[in-house]
Amino acid sequence: MKILVATEKPFAKIAVDGIRKEIEDAGYELVLLEKYADKAQLLEAVKDVQAIIIRSDLIDAEILDAARELKIVVRAGAGYNNVDLEAATAHGVCVMNTPGQNSNAVAELVLGMMVMAVRNFYNGTSGTELMGKKLGIHAYGNVGRNVARIAKGFGMEIYAYDPFCPQEVIEKDGVKALGSAEELYKTCQFVSLHIPATPETKKSINYNLLKDMPKGALLVNSARKEVIDEDELIRLMDERTDFKYITDIMPAADAKFTELFAGRYFSTPKKMGAQTAEANINAGIAAAQQIVDFLKNGNTRFQVN
Ligand code: 3PG
Repeated sequence: MKILVATEKPFAKIAVDGIRKEIEDAGYELVLLEKYADKAQLLEAVKDVQAIIIRSDLIDAEILDAARELKIVVRAGAGYNNVDLEAATAHGVCVMNTPGQNSNAVAELVLGMMVMAVRNFYNGTSGTELMGKKLGIHAYGNVGRNVARIAKGFGMEIYAYDPFCPQEVIEKDGVKALGSAEELYKTCQFVSLHIPATPETKKSINYNLLKDMPKGALLVNSARKEVIDEDELIRLMDERTDFKYITDIMPAADAKFTELFAGRYFSTPKKMGAQTAEANINAGIAAAQQIVDFLKNGNTRFQVN
């Protein structure tokens, strides 16, 4: 059996070593395709493998057509909007993710970027503190929970909105559960986004939702760029010079944000929330173990299609 690790954005070496050990101990062979420059390389690499570990790498119908022996794809991470689930199901391919494995890394980056923004990007001028400020967590999943845990250490007042998470689960963490996204954005000067990219959430973070955020608003995106209505966010930031946007997923309109909103906009050049050795080890090894358990025992826990 051949297991391909296809990562345009590679894991740390220590994580690759761990993945290799899991795969070789199971009697399988690891094939490594890192930093590939175009899809043709991926199309070639998938031809004779039975399993694939990916990150944000795109697995579409064309890749699935080419992967004639494929049984399973594991997205080493949380969001799987980069995999065509319908096509995978049609090809009889099981798709899994590794929920929770990289969430602390993403949450630490969120708080780090918030500090950077309130300290005026370390430009030497007087900024503000996070203590006592209201933080809204939009979707209370694994990352949202970790953001709440860390933000508590900063002394922030924490609120969350998540229609899929019971109020008791949120409130037992000392976080106030709100009944709507509108209420969350109206209440909180700081909002951290943790919603997945789905047809329903696409462009759902729009002018109407953001316009009522309190003065000195800061929106932090470590989720997906697709959930933002970029034209409407630009319109809002044009009108509200107190509004800041910081993101770990470069917007399609990055050049425009950069040109128009100097000092109020920041994007990492490449999504790096989960780019730590620890997160790579956790998610990468979990992915390898899930593949071995699936191929040997048929375990489908974490299947998402
Ligand atoms: C995830 O969904 O797990 C995060 O967005 C991390 O994605 P990455 O593995 O591409 O860094």
